[in-house]
Amino acid sequence: MSVAKPLPHDAARLHVTGQARYVDDIPLPANALHLAFGLSTIAYGKITHIDLSKVRAVPGVIAVLTADDFDHHVDVSPSPSPEPLLAEGTVHFVGQPIFLVVAESHLAARKAARLGQVEYEELPAILSLEDALAADSRFEDGPRVYAAGDAEAAIAGASNTLEGQIDVAGQEHFYLEGQAATALPQDDGGFIVYSSSQHPTEIQHKVAHALGLPMSDVRCEVRRMGGGFGGKESQGNHLAVACALAARLTGRACTMRYDRDDDMVVTGKRHDFQIKYRVGFADDGRISGLEFIQLCRAGWSMDLTLPVADRAMLHADNAYFLPDIRIESHRLRTNTQSNTAFRGFGGPQGMVGVERVMDHVAHELGMDPVEVRKRNFYAKVGKPPQSTPYGMPVEDFILHEMTERLEATSDYHARRAAVREWNADNRYLKKGIALTPVKFGISFTLTHLNQAGALVHVYQDGSIALNHGGTEMGQGLFQKVAQVAASRFGVDMSRVKITATDTGKVPNTSATAASSGSDLNGMAVKAACDTIRDRLASFVAERAQADPKSVVFKDGHVEVGGDRIPFDDVVTDAYMNRISLSATGFYKTPKIVWDRIKGEGRPFFYFAYGAAVTEVVIDTLTGENRILRADILHDCGASLNPAIDVGQIEGGYVQGAGWLTTEELVWDDKGRLLTHAPSTYKIPACSDRPDVFNVALWEGENSEETIYRSKAVGEPPLMLGISALMALSDAAAACGDKYPDLQSPATAEQVFNAVQRAGS
Ligand code: MTE
Ligand code: MOS
Repeated sequence: MSVAKPLPHDAARLHVTGQARYVDDIPLPANALHLAFGLSTIAYGKITHIDLSKVRAVPGVIAVLTADDFDHHVDVSPSPSPEPLLAEGTVHFVGQPIFLVVAESHLAARKAARLGQVEYEELPAILSLEDALAADSRFEDGPRVYAAGDAEAAIAGASNTLEGQIDVAGQEHFYLEGQAATALPQDDGGFIVYSSSQHPTEIQHKVAHALGLPMSDVRCEVRRMGGGFGGKESQGNHLAVACALAARLTGRACTMRYDRDDDMVVTGKRHDFQIKYRVGFADDGRISGLEFIQLCRAGWSMDLTLPVADRAMLHADNAYFLPDIRIESHRLRTNTQSNTAFRGFGGPQGMVGVERVMDHVAHELGMDPVEVRKRNFYAKVGKPPQSTPYGMPVEDFILHEMTERLEATSDYHARRAAVREWNADNRYLKKGIALTPVKFGISFTLTHLNQAGALVHVYQDGSIALNHGGTEMGQGLFQKVAQVAASRFGVDMSRVKITATDTGKVPNTSATAASSGSDLNGMAVKAACDTIRDRLASFVAERAQADPKSVVFKDGHVEVGGDRIPFDDVVTDAYMNRISLSATGFYKTPKIVWDRIKGEGRPFFYFAYGAAVTEVVIDTLTGENRILRADILHDCGASLNPAIDVGQIEGGYVQGAGWLTTEELVWDDKGRLLTHAPSTYKIPACSDRPDVFNVALWEGENSEETIYRSKAVGEPPLMLGISALMALSDAAAACGDKYPDLQSPATAEQVFNAVQRAGS
């Protein structure tokens, strides 16, 4: 069976040889046009005058459009709150598109876009979380509160209390392929759109809406993205809609891609948070009451902020049973890029809050932080399940066993002792070590999104074409789902043709997000394959006078009544006998119910678990630091493809560690993003990965009925990177008696500051 095999990514060879085709590589008709946006240079203000004569004068410019050129509001918002394609009289952040240049070359469009003369009446911009809170600049009427028990009373009655605050950094997606789209006008007034998007149905929807067309007139195709990481759930809408409008205006194919600087300036990032906490705890480390206040930067438009901020609240408990807890979440509106989905979707930010509390409590009590964490874990499987703050019983909590195993395999206790010794012997270099767990909820919290469709064709020669609503962004979804299809028919993988995601083949799809791609699409594909398989089984069983249930599809053959017939022959025969060899499949996740206003229900089908031990060394004179070793144990259930899953875990850990250490977004006091290129924004390089990097899969299976009992793996490993932050905190703590209060991103500067605080 193909499932569970560590096969390489289906396009691995194309990726490494440069042959993989991305949107910008798709050959265009000879007369295709290229687009670029002219951007706002101020953070907030009214547009008083626009002079685009210099833009129009650039050779090769065909048209220049502003919001006034459309007779209706052209909307690109993924949420119910409107967001215009081009500024409608007011600009809300530095980088907001104001006008659209349509030109004969990419370079001409870009050059011309710089020449717009826009005059503004500047208004006072809100740039910081503090200012937004003070000005009550927010989405929703007030803060959202999820609570269980009585946190205040529990804290008041505790023998120890602490309070603190941590800045949780934002993060640029830095997908290698920037945002890109192409629109091709069709002879019947319809459009084909190629988009680098995690959400082809939304591209189709927004394009159709902008053009006043039914969705059936627009077809969106996505073969692959060069990375999405959540940044292509909604933020590709602008390019696709712009291309479609320009294509209709000119009757020519239109294409658009953001160069890296524009991509970083225009698009939203991970939401940065400021988290305040107040905690009451016993002498043995057990937490009795906990209060969080989460300030979340939405940026200027709503985008996906509400569900992101909800998920941060839903992960404020992480792996810990906290019966008396109150979480208050403020979704603050600022004059900065509109922040959006990013791997973990708010979960990582919420989780950093409680991991920070564990670290702080352990420091206060002088206990091993792992011990404090274990004391507060949810109950083991087999004991009566304990409920999350939102009332969902945690029935599959395997972190006790996983932590024990990881402590042993990483040699945690001996290494902690060795770190202590090293720190006693070394004045300037200090080491730190930390173990942090992950419990991540799997499902979209917007219940209706938990559905998927598939389309499977078996051709008369026995070859199979596979299509489903999921998109490929490097995470290996297509390969995993193809393994499911091959397994259902008992054929070799070479039989299964992976095809591009296409709204014309499978409609009404959800974004490939929330790590649910393989759970949802794997099941939909299984349903489609099984429909065809059942038809074939009935057909051969009838001829052999056997029970259809006794028919076996295995090793490229169909076994029936003692005969073993090649799959191809069965298919050809079935075709001659007029058996339908094509089917759709559909799946919806069972068991989930969720009331996001009350904060109650079962928002998740199940949880994915993991744990990581990170060891670091810091230079106390400069704050420079590096990760020496990381040991990870991660739960993918019964993995569909261990090679791909290990890749997701390694990549997720490194991306998470990068987020909390070197990746720093800096805006100046005018709201201009200063870190808008790799020269100033430091993502991890290969050389930044841990010197020793041990990744193991937990051998278990999903207790819920998922596709082959696997578990989602896309996002959870990112949060293993939190162990790097906590290890740096541990190293800084070795420089004195005080709590180092390390902030994120833990750049050299922040580590240096923490060292000073610990010692002063
Ligand atoms: N892995 C790669 N290589 N590239 C990506 O863009 N996106 C992540 C994760 N892993 C991403 C990735 C995010 S944000 C999600 S939600 C999941 O993959 C989506 O895919 P899945 O649902 O198939 O896991
Ligand atoms: Mo992932 S942030 O759900 O696209």
